Amino acid sequence: MTSGESPVKVNTQMQYDMPEQLFSEDDIKRRIAAMAGDISRNMPADTMIISLLKGGFVFTADLIRALHRAGMQPQVDFITLASYGAGTSSSGNPDLHSDMQEDIKDRHILIVDDILESGRTISRARKLALERGASEVKIAVLLEKPGKREVDIKSDFTGFVIPDKFVVGYGLDYANRYRELPYIGWLDDL
Ligand code: IMP
Ligand code: MG
Repeated sequence: MTSGESPVKVNTQMQYDMPEQLFSEDDIKRRIAAMAGDISRNMPADTMIISLLKGGFVFTADLIRALHRAGMQPQVDFITLASYGAGTSSSGNPDLHSDMQEDIKDRHILIVDDILESGRTISRARKLALERGASEVKIAVLLEKPGKREVDIKSDFTGFVIPDKFVVGYGLDYANRYRELPYIGWLDDL
């Protein structure tokens, strides 16, 4: 690097507004510890986690460590389901972009995602798990927007119920940005 050159490359063509904080890192940490306790009292120690990508990966990473502290030994697999383009509203039936690798026949499954909105994403994941022979399918989401449900599906373990705002951070994105924020916030103009 020559002197005066910035070590961080910034794409100046894309605006990056700082979101308003809704839940802090600490709020999230405490809530996940409580959720893990609840999950450990209601599911077997060797529950198989099916984490929904991309949005669910940060929550899943913290949740499995909280589950360990709560005495569980979960296994983890991932599927990628996508229904959003670069916008802020989901549409249609989500596509399966990448499948799980594990055999889940007769397993107790916990589907983990960042947020439950219309319910289409989780409903698709749940159907898939049942088709593959899971003996039980439960659902854990960090966030829930109750006003937006279009499919009859309920979360078994919910972190926070939030108003109908588009939120980002902690894995949640807008046009694949803001996932890296350690907190959850909203953007004023969305
Ligand atoms: P659903 O299928 O409508 O329930 O939408 C769930 C999916 O949409 C989640 O897995 C998220 O990835 C995404 N999503 C829903 N609401 C938001 C939001 O407020 N911010 C970012 N992503 C969202
Ligand atoms: Mg998602």
